[in-house]
Amino acid sequence: MPHTPSPLLLALRAGTQACHQRLEARLPFFRDDFDLPAYRRLMQAYYGFHAPLQALLADHQGSERAKTAVLEHDLLALGLSRAEVAALPRCQALPATADEASVLGVMYVIEGSTLGGQVLKRAMAERLGIDGDHGARFLDVYGPLTGAHWRSFLQRLDQPAASHPQTVAAAIATFECFEHWLQDCGVLA
Ligand code: HEM
Repeated sequence: MPHTPSPLLLALRAGTQACHQRLEARLPFFRDDFDLPAYRRLMQAYYGFHAPLQALLADHQGSERAKTAVLEHDLLALGLSRAEVAALPRCQALPATADEASVLGVMYVIEGSTLGGQVLKRAMAERLGIDGDHGARFLDVYGPLTGAHWRSFLQRLDQPAASHPQTVAAAIATFECFEHWLQDCGVLA
């Protein structure tokens, strides 16, 4: 039986729905001209956002949630050298993670994106012929544990109402920072 969504989850969904829709519409995954070089450029830009953000979040999540290593694995599989990965530009305009309420909002976005990743994994297998061993592991970073990780994250959203606005603001900021960064990298429509 699915649990009743917590008030904070409902607030996060309502607060970020427009952000999600806008970013989803601008991401190139489903464009006709999207090919492997374009996918590699997109994952380089993902790395430039996730690597510094995961470093900020390192104190707040277990190692199984560390996605930077998986993105690096993908970039190596896509033909970059370790030195090239290390030299990739990194986003400096990251969402604020100064307090627990904000951290939760950032994590909602990062963890929630593993759900959309399931759709993208299948689409990239079909369109580009890539899987977890050939550059697409990040899209399925938790593998068969995706649902279990998401449910365990949702348990953390049982928070006092006073902190909700801050958490929702941090989630919106995370979407906006990511979108700006991807735009600066030239990978969005
Ligand atoms: C083309 C790209 C994307 C597609 C097709 C997509 C698709 C989806 C889908 C189908 C779900 C619902 C999954 C479910 O309920 O089982 C979802 C949830 C979610 N996605 Fe995306 N997504 C994309 C990109 C992103 C990105 C880039 C982010 C953030 C960086 C993101 C953040 C989220 C979040 C936070 C949720 C959880 C919503 C909730 O249940 O509260 N998505 N996405």
